[in-house]
Amino acid sequence: MNDMLRITTPAAMQELGLVWRREGLTVGLVPTMGYWHEGHLSLMRWARENCDVLVASVFVNPTQFGPGEDLENYPSDLERDSGLARECGVDALFTPVRDEMYAPDHGTWVTVPDLTANLCGRSRPVHFRGVATVVCKLFNLVQPTFAVFGQKDWQQLAVIRKMTRELDIPVRVEGRPIVREADGLAMSSRNVYLTDEERAVAPHIRKGLLLLESLVRSGEADADRLREAVMKYFEANIPMGRLDYLELVDPDTIETVGQVRGDVLAAVAMRLGKARLIDNMHIPFER
Ligand code: PAF
Repeated sequence: MNDMLRITTPAAMQELGLVWRREGLTVGLVPTMGYWHEGHLSLMRWARENCDVLVASVFVNPTQFGPGEDLENYPSDLERDSGLARECGVDALFTPVRDEMYAPDHGTWVTVPDLTANLCGRSRPVHFRGVATVVCKLFNLVQPTFAVFGQKDWQQLAVIRKMTRELDIPVRVEGRPIVREADGLAMSSRNVYLTDEERAVAPHIRKGLLLLESLVRSGEADADRLREAVMKYFEANIPMGRLDYLELVDPDTIETVGQVRGDVLAAVAMRLGKARLIDNMHIPFER
C-alpha cells in the first residue's frame, strides 16, 4: 500500500475490511484510544512485520468509562498519532466518531463475567463490558486476521481472548510485552496526568512487583504475606499513592490465589493524584 488511508466511518471501514478478506490478505489490527507512546508503537511495529495490511484504530470508547472517570479529559493528539502511524507503516488509520459507533439507542453488550469480577473489573464495574463490546465491533468492522494488545492490560487481554474463543470470532489475538520507561514505569497515556513529584515515585510500583517476585523466588508462597511486604514497600516509597488493589491471581482465570503453587500474575492498580496506574508481573512457576 502507498499513502496511509484515513477512514472515519464504520461503513467505509467494513467495506474495505471485507475487500481485503476476499483478496486473502493478512490484516493486522492495533486497536487504541490514541495519545500513542512507545508501547503502542511496539504493537504496530510487531504487527507491521506480520501482515500485508496494517490497520490502527483511534477511538476513545465512551462505554468503557464509568461515571466520574476521565472520559472527557482523556488525552488526545490525533495529528501526532497520525504522523506516528505513517512512520510505523500503518496502511489505514480508523478514527470513527462516537455517534457513528454507537446509535443513541445502542443496547447490545458483550460481557465476560467469569473474568471480570476481580481486579479492574471490581473497581470499574462497566469497564470490561465496554471493552469487549467495542473490540467485538472493531473485529466486525475491520475483519482482521489478527489483533494485537499490550500485556499491561493483562485482564483485558484475557477477556478479549475468551470472548473471541467463545463467540467463534475468526481473529487471532496476540499479546505483547509491557514497554517501560528507563526507570521501569510502565508506559501509559495516563502518565501525562502525573505531577513531577508523582512521576518521581511512580517507578516504585514496578519495584514493588520486583520485590514480590524476589520473595516468591526465595520460597515465600503465602499470598497474604507477599501482599503485606509489598504494601509496606508502597507505603514507605509512594506515601501519596492510594492502592486500589494488589492481588496475586491465576493468569488465565484471574481468580485470586492464596498460595503460589503454579504460574501467578501479580497485578496492581494505584491512584496517584489524577492518574490511576496499573502494572503487573507474570511469574512463571519454577520447581
Ligand atoms: O487498551 C485500550 O486502549 C482499549 O481498552 C481498547 C482495547 C482500544 C478498547 O477501547
